[in-house]
Amino acid sequence: KRRIQIALDGPAGSGKSTVARRVAKALGCDYIDTGAMYRAIALKFIETGLFQKLDAAASSLTPALEAEIDHLLDTSQLELFTEKVILDGRDVSEAIRTQEVTRRVSQVAAMSPVRRHLVKMQRGQAQGRSVVMDGRDIGTVVLPETPYKFFLTASLEERARRRFLEFEAKGFEADFETILKDIEHRDKVDSSREDSPLVMAADAVRIDTTGKTIDQVVTAICEAVEALK
Ligand code: C5P
Repeated sequence: KRRIQIALDGPAGSGKSTVARRVAKALGCDYIDTGAMYRAIALKFIETGLFQKLDAAASSLTPALEAEIDHLLDTSQLELFTEKVILDGRDVSEAIRTQEVTRRVSQVAAMSPVRRHLVKMQRGQAQGRSVVMDGRDIGTVVLPETPYKFFLTASLEERARRRFLEFEAKGFEADFETILKDIEHRDKVDSSREDSPLVMAADAVRIDTTGKTIDQVVTAICEAVEALK
């Protein structure tokens, strides 16, 4: 059986992770959430106090800070399962979803040493397997050779509304305007960074999910994959 590698990119709240899980299940692929990996590294930055040092240095990377980041990356043990993220032997699946991590993750994801490290891991994970990978640079950087590339979009309001409903369903307190501002800010940072910005690959299929159900998007992707096979 031929291996299928599906790249699913797009901005925050475009429905990537829900769609990716469902497509993976439908096509018998493994699901790899690359955002979870950036979140785990951001959590580590928070817990080790690296952010305070970065803030103090006005975010300009001194050689000492760079060495500290390299050390942190080299010594971090990151394991990724379908529904679980293990960092240094600890289950951080919930801890990486907090507002604090969400607010800080784009800053960490903009750092080239972090990207180099995680992209290498991600390519290793995809090697020889059928996978659906969701992220920001999968079609452009991580799996540029795959013919199966999709870029999900939705209006900012729709994406904020989805996040809002997600939070409410989980029983978290949420403010729509705050969520909208956070998403807008994160997309801006992700799209304007120098290293591997959030951008659609030239050969990706764009799917606007505004007003579409999850089922419709999943079906559209599965059909497109079949057609490309
Ligand atoms: O997908 P998720 O929203 O969990 O991703 C969190 C953050 O991780 C993104 O806002 C982005 O800064 C970063 N990310 C990235 N490249 C990826 C996946 C995520 O830069 N492939």
